[in-house]
Amino acid sequence: METTLIILKPDAVQRGLMGRIIGRFEDKGLQIVGCKLMQISQELAAKHYEAHKTKGFYPGLVKFMTSSPVLVLAVRGVGAVAMSRKMMGATFGSKAEPGTIRGDFGVSNSFNLIHGSDSPEAAEREIGLFFKAGEVLSPSRAIEGWIYDMSGGAPE
Ligand code: RTP
Ligand code: MG
Repeated sequence: METTLIILKPDAVQRGLMGRIIGRFEDKGLQIVGCKLMQISQELAAKHYEAHKTKGFYPGLVKFMTSSPVLVLAVRGVGAVAMSRKMMGATFGSKAEPGTIRGDFGVSNSFNLIHGSDSPEAAEREIGLFFKAGEVLSPSRAIEGWIYDMSGGAPE
């Protein structure tokens, strides 16, 4: 099982798309194990996007991410990191395929609705940035045995 860090960016929250985007993850069978509406500080944005510090788009990216509240989610499932990235679609709304979140809900390249960790290592680091100990939960789901084939002893 993997847990990934998803952020519904300020444009998704302001446009009232939170429910529909969360619904896509739940429809897929992924489990929401953490959820927080928050305003990202300059310091947190800088830590989260430190890999992009030298890029030309960095100042605009930090300004956007700190401009209005975001919804931060911890999303769990087998292969949740890569699966979520696929569901999000390509970075730019203008290029993202129909059927993906960015492809279906937006046209903008910078207001691209959603962030998702790009590797299991990044997910662990980012969950540590956005959630305190005890804020990511691990409830067992009654439906788990119908989401995954557990007959081999592991979720398949
Ligand atoms: P994210 O980190 O937000 O999930 O997006 P991503 O992996 O698909 O894209 P990444 O390369 O990590 O870029 C982070 C965010 O910076 C903005 N961006 N603007 N103008 C540009 O060339 C440009 N490139 C990236 C986007 O908001 C992107 O999500
Ligand atoms: Mg990224």
